[in-house]
Amino acid sequence: MKIMHLSDLHFGTESDGIVDLLKVSIEDIKPELVVVSGDFTQIANNREFKTAQTFMSALSMPVFCVPGNHDIPRFDLWERFFDPYRKYKKYIDENLCPVFENDEVIVAGINSARRVLPHWNWANGAISGAQLDHLERVYGDSKKRRICVFHHPIHQAMNAPLDTVVYGAKQAMARLNEMEVDLVLTGHVHHASVTTIGDVDHRTLYLSASTALSSRLRSQQNGFNVIEVDSERMDIALYAHDGEGFKEIENYSSARI
Ligand SMILES: [Fe+2]
Repeated sequence: MKIMHLSDLHFGTESDGIVDLLKVSIEDIKPELVVVSGDFTQIANNREFKTAQTFMSALSMPVFCVPGNHDIPRFDLWERFFDPYRKYKKYIDENLCPVFENDEVIVAGINSARRVLPHWNWANGAISGAQLDHLERVYGDSKKRRICVFHHPIHQAMNAPLDTVVYGAKQAMARLNEMEVDLVLTGHVHHASVTTIGDVDHRTLYLSASTALSSRLRSQQNGFNVIEVDSERMDIALYAHDGEGFKEIENYSSARI
């Protein structure tokens, strides 16, 4: 199963010409599933959401989406508090906690963005016990590979240029390990990293993606990740934009334990 992991598309701030380069990469790589771990837009207006919708509807494979903090209106406070996902549901997906399942994998998404947080920075995130209960029900007793997607990294993304507070992160990491989740896909920090967390019984691989399209770079170029997973192995390739196109720059392999 080949999965392409995109994040932080941030339509409205995309660099010149990069959308076409990303389309070329998707056509070349031919993933069976494209996962987008949130932040489709910059300020969650209709124009940005429509551009995101046009981009995704042109793809020939299924696209799996979760919202990010930028997909909640920032300036329209009425909408932010009373109907924060109205445009996300209209243009991207009605379902904020989607599930994709085939013979090999179960991919489950949850929403880590919040309209308000007990913290000065509402760009941060949270994961609740109820969301973890939902994941446990989705995975059930299946022996398929378990992949989980949400926007905010709950692990300390290696050398990430942005500190992120995620309420419930400690509990989430413990329960994802108990559920024997194989892979967690996140974004938000615009920084690709691979981190393995766990013990001798189970290791969960945490994979962050850079921003695929936005000109608002932090410490890395635009990029995305490609995952090839079967029942025994997981191969991960990090791609970055080198000025001409997206090229593979690093890869990791991990055997199932
Ligand atoms: Fe974000």
